[in-house]
Amino acid sequence: MKLMEQIWEKAKSNKKRIVLAEGEEERNIKACEMILRNGLADIILVGNKESILNKAKSLKVSLEGAEIIDPQTSDKTASYAEKLYELRKNKGMTLEKAEKVIRDELYFGTMMVKENDADGMVSGAIHTTGDLLRPGLQIVKTAPGASVVSSFFIMLVPESSYGEDGLLLFSDCAVNPNPTSEQLASIAISTAETAKGLCNLDPKVAMLSFSTMGSASHELVEKVTTATKLAKEMRADLDIDGELQLDAAIVEKVANLKAPNSNVAGKANVLIFPDLQAGNIGYKLVQRFANAEAIGPITQGFAKPINDLSRGCSPEDIVNVVAVTAVQAQSN
Ligand code: ACO
Repeated sequence: MKLMEQIWEKAKSNKKRIVLAEGEEERNIKACEMILRNGLADIILVGNKESILNKAKSLKVSLEGAEIIDPQTSDKTASYAEKLYELRKNKGMTLEKAEKVIRDELYFGTMMVKENDADGMVSGAIHTTGDLLRPGLQIVKTAPGASVVSSFFIMLVPESSYGEDGLLLFSDCAVNPNPTSEQLASIAISTAETAKGLCNLDPKVAMLSFSTMGSASHELVEKVTTATKLAKEMRADLDIDGELQLDAAIVEKVANLKAPNSNVAGKANVLIFPDLQAGNIGYKLVQRFANAEAIGPITQGFAKPINDLSRGCSPEDIVNVVAVTAVQAQSN
């Protein structure tokens, strides 16, 4: 079974409540119908009920079974505003400002997740990554054991034997511009957990660098060696190793020469990039040159899942991100 089919089946097996915060947007309305029809999740659309139902009617889409909640009129709005004020008053939030901010669909949707009125949220068809992540970072915050929210891509490389027959996870390619060693260690652990929980992989995590096991000495390499040491100390049960060059990480022959004692080198299926420049360029290189399918960026490390969409996304893309979010929510 293909990976996305597996994720759909898993989502169906234990249905979660997912908020589509951009509920008035047409692709979200179409996606909602598809999600409900396939039984992937229960959906809460955030927005004006009349506007959503009128759009659904003109799109000839049934929203039967979807919940619609309007931040402008909901009886939850006042209590969510108070909660937002309590959470952010040390950061300059006033009750008056919170009452205004909570009417924004992204803040409202995020607060639904925080208050356990939903299990996860998906947005970003019309908002930027930063617009979506900021309320999540401020309200939902990081999961126990994760010091940082990060992102990963599921890379499906056709006709490749690297990773798990061409399946690899890349991180972080979209969120943290320049993680510290501590943050890099946290990203490695989060991605290993994701590889297990979402992709049924036995994670082999390579901490990437331009050096392999001390072949070069530089402060940039030191950041990765320190991260590797920290990650191993935190989770001795996981196969994490580094620092490794990309070829030593994924090519058995090179690994035998450069890192013969490593339990990860040559077999890595999780690649941790040292910073966002490397990660973002790296996934796009593989996507373009190897014709790889890049599923993501999917976030990890939030206390409850919040996921971004590309602004060019299709309704089908939204359905898949909702399925991933629902599976992530099953681990909470
Ligand atoms: N994990 C956990 N908490 C975080 C993180 C993180 N990665 N980043 C910021 N925070 C926290 C801060 O500590 C702060 O908390 P506080 O207000 O309670 O003290 C809060 O979140 C806001 O922090 P800021 O630094 O003010 O947030 P910022 O405005 O910088 O936004 C963001 C954070 C959006 C993640 C930013 O780092 C960013 O824009 N990253 C790059 C996104 C990007 O452009 N990606 C590339 C494109 S995507 C692609 O190509 C697929």
